Amino acid sequence: MAETIFEVKNLAFTYPKNGVQALKDVSFRVEKGEVFGLLGPSGAGKSTTQKILTRLLKDYGGLVRYRGKNLREYGDGFYEDIGVGFELPVHFSKLTAVENMDFFKRLYQKNIDYSSLMERVGLGEDKNRLVGEFSKGMKVRLNFVRALLNDPEVLFLDEPTNGLDPANARIIKDLVWEFKERGGTVILSTHLMNDVEELCDRVAFITQGVIREISTPRELKIKHGRREVRVEYHENGRTKDKVFPLDGIGDNPEFLEILKDGSVETIHSGETSLDEIFIKVTGEEISHE
Ligand SMILES: Nc1ncnc2c1ncn2[C@@H]1O[C@H](COP(=O)(O)OP(=O)(O)OP(=O)(O)O)[C@@H](O)[C@H]1O
Ligand SMILES: [Mg+2]
Repeated sequence: MAETIFEVKNLAFTYPKNGVQALKDVSFRVEKGEVFGLLGPSGAGKSTTQKILTRLLKDYGGLVRYRGKNLREYGDGFYEDIGVGFELPVHFSKLTAVENMDFFKRLYQKNIDYSSLMERVGLGEDKNRLVGEFSKGMKVRLNFVRALLNDPEVLFLDEPTNGLDPANARIIKDLVWEFKERGGTVILSTHLMNDVEELCDRVAFITQGVIREISTPRELKIKHGRREVRVEYHENGRTKDKVFPLDGIGDNPEFLEILKDGSVETIHSGETSLDEIFIKVTGEEISHE
């Protein structure tokens, strides 16, 4: 059986400044080698959870175990194990990308040669420019390089593709995959269903500081998705669409007729949209309160 990387039990956290109870009851486990997604609407507590697991926030209730040992008992050696790419990138704007990376590298005992990674994320030509002149997407990509500088075993990513164009988002997702293939563990928060679908082995839905459901993307789709088929077809020179129940579809004369007469333009089964599931799970739970 895989090693448990994080065991989180009944986590609760209130920001002392404003008394906001950001986390009320958060429990989950993350096994070695998996990509675990924290999914939920803005303000749900995703970043707060990540900040506790990375020890940026300390006064929490509940228990966090990292590799079987209470997180509170670790020294700074913990930071050798983890890589952190947080939502608002922090860099020195008066230093170049390379100078920034060299600075952060020195904080760790273990290092990678980051130059090929810098090329991979498309910053090869800009590496000697001041980070202050970087666009948002360039900073996000540099932030990703920074998270991998110490060759971590566990990678925390907070909305890693936020602000990236599809081509750059693709590169980051590929790199996350490669990290996982090497045995790395990833804890990722996002509200982009594309990221979840392509990357996550399991996801936890969190709303208002409470975990509502933990599942695989596939199970979620089967459980919450509608069992139906949407067909777009042309009739008298116009495109029409119609939804058929999936059950018994093979005997549905109207559906079979559309298939036979060759008028189909697109055909989709209804269980594909994680977006709808997101709204359903988060919306439903909020309305219960
Ligand atoms: N530094 C802070 N000080 C006080 N309250 C905070 C702080 N950071 C977050 N909060 C509050 O805690 C709650 C959870 O915020 P958190 O940042 O964890 O949400 P999130 O799920 O990451 O949202 P988003 O998707 O917008 O990033 C919110 O009500 C927020 O207002
Ligand atoms: Mg956040």
